[in-house]
Amino acid sequence: MNYDKIKFGIIGCGNMGQIVLESLLLIKNVLPENIFVSDIDKKKLQLLNKKYFVQTLNCNKELTNITNIIILAVKPQQIKLVLEEIRHFINQEKLIVSIAAGVKMCFIESFLNKKVSVIRCMPNLPLKVGFGLTAVCCNKNVSKKQNLFVKELFSVRGKVIFINENKMDSITAISGSGPAYIFYISEIMQQIATKFGFNKKEAELLVNQTILGSAQMLNLSCFSAKELKEAVTSKGGTTQQALSVFYKNQLLKIFLKAIKSAKNRAKELSKIL
Ligand SMILES: NC(=O)c1ccc[n+]([C@@H]2O[C@H](COP(=O)([O-])OP(=O)(O)OC[C@H]3O[C@@H](n4cnc5c(N)ncnc54)[C@H](OP(=O)(O)O)[C@@H]3O)[C@@H](O)[C@H]2O)c1
Repeated sequence: MNYDKIKFGIIGCGNMGQIVLESLLLIKNVLPENIFVSDIDKKKLQLLNKKYFVQTLNCNKELTNITNIIILAVKPQQIKLVLEEIRHFINQEKLIVSIAAGVKMCFIESFLNKKVSVIRCMPNLPLKVGFGLTAVCCNKNVSKKQNLFVKELFSVRGKVIFINENKMDSITAISGSGPAYIFYISEIMQQIATKFGFNKKEAELLVNQTILGSAQMLNLSCFSAKELKEAVTSKGGTTQQALSVFYKNQLLKIFLKAIKSAKNRAKELSKIL
């Protein structure tokens, strides 16, 4: 698509906002001078201008007024304030893209004209390194072009899945919080490695390279996770011994409990907005 004439706005340029900004800059024909970023931190804005050559503003209203696509990347508890601020500058020609966790499209729509296009996304942290997963849902006003834009935006650094909004809480609990589960597994395996006598650096290498290699196999091989697991498990061997402890102690149940609890929390958070 040709984006030469489109002006993009990002409201809130913290951790995620910056990752989205970097993704935007990777799209062909998106020019830094057509990207407007606003944040309440003026120092952050100066740094962003120096680093990415984008336009910076500390007025959300002005940003909304001059841009065609507005990406909301503030914290969920700041969304209401921002929407109240910008609502009069949004018309049905504009597209609102929100990455705020737990903020439903109907909440955003309640501040806007019924015909405004709204897209809700749930990216995850590996977007930062090109291996993100972003779940996307759109309201009925979203056009094919707008849909393609969001797909392109989040595909430059990962994969995109289009879902029904009623699955967003589950997405949040699986792929949104998922990186933390893997980091935790890495942390506990490293702790065990140090208990076995490896120093911190060695433990880190042993565990992280194992996770990276396994993730790469999951990604590249035509076998499922279950099949790959079975392939490295020889009868009576060490892997089988460890896995039998996981099965006996019902690791699956622990994961299920944890992920269900994350999903419930996502539901709760969307209610208290
Ligand atoms: N981090 C993740 O892995 C992840 C994943 C998926 C979705 N998300 C979503 O992404 C959003 C941003 O998260 P984050 O971790 O990037 O948060 P963050 O680092 O706190 O970024 C939010 C930024 O918005 C600024 N801000 C606050 N109020 C503002 C206002 N009224 N106008 C303009 N800017 C304002 C904040 O400034 P101050 O710091 O000065 O308040 C901050 O720089 C959240 O809604 C979160 O749910 C995050």
